[in-house]
Amino acid sequence: MPIAIVTGASSGIGRSAAVQLAERGWGVIATYAGSRDRGLETVAAVERAGGKAVALPLDLGRTEGFPEFKRQVIAALADTWGATGVTALVNNGGRARMAPFAETTEELFDDLTRVLLKGPYFLTQALLPLIEDGGVIVNTTSSSATSSEAAPGYSVYGSLKGGLIVLTRFMAKEFSARGIRVNAIAPGPTRTRLGDNAFERFPELAEPLARATALGRIGEPDDIGAAIAALCSDESRWITAQSIEVSGGYQL
Ligand SMILES: NC(=O)c1ccc[n+]([C@@H]2O[C@H](COP(=O)([O-])OP(=O)(O)OC[C@H]3O[C@@H](n4cnc5c(N)ncnc54)[C@H](OP(=O)(O)O)[C@@H]3O)[C@@H](O)[C@H]2O)c1
Repeated sequence: MPIAIVTGASSGIGRSAAVQLAERGWGVIATYAGSRDRGLETVAAVERAGGKAVALPLDLGRTEGFPEFKRQVIAALADTWGATGVTALVNNGGRARMAPFAETTEELFDDLTRVLLKGPYFLTQALLPLIEDGGVIVNTTSSSATSSEAAPGYSVYGSLKGGLIVLTRFMAKEFSARGIRVNAIAPGPTRTRLGDNAFERFPELAEPLARATALGRIGEPDDIGAAIAALCSDESRWITAQSIEVSGGYQL
């Protein structure tokens, strides 16, 4: 059975990716950051889909925690699947913080840099020995880096997601020697808990974003989770080094 590590799988896009991978026969290591309960809810959702998942804590902002995370991954693989490696790594965990350029603090800049770029970089480095030859990596980026829009407040977030898209290309080249494919998925506005659960707190946000989307609505987590699962599958075996916007045509 192929096994995937999905970071930020306790909510939204990561949870959907975990469930949709499970529906396609994958085992899943689902990471959570602030909410163990939501991590366990993902495990339950995977089990309802007929699959098997393990929830592990991971803070992408703390690289010093990565060796312990790797140890926990190795133990979970052995205990749960009798396995020693994974087929896929989905670098999805993240958070959004916005501020106008003139008001952006170094604290915000450094915090987002650790979580959105440094974290995925060094987590991938730490886990690379566990990823099988011929495996796959998917990085969740953002339409803030791919669409023509440059929404005020997103200068740090969008720049870091752009950095992750460029990093995707470099990873794809270096890891190709082992047959590992690396691609980026850039979601458009998607109804998740991102931004302190902004879509639930401010439901009026959705309508203008839907109007700016060619297909006429905002995204749902399953729209993105399906694309991640598809990129992980063998059907996508000849796709590497690509950034694919999955947004229903946001700002088209
Ligand atoms: N929703 C959108 O409109 C949208 C658009 C473009 C890109 N994205 C990207 O999609 C990815 C998933 O976000 P989402 O929309 O599904 O939001 P979400 O519902 O808030 O889920 C975010 C996930 O990331 C985890 N996380 C937060 N901080 C973390 C940290 N420091 N270390 C490790 N994990 C952390 C969360 O864990 P806990 O809940 O346990 O804290 C949660 O599992 C993010 O990279 C986001 O930037 C989202």
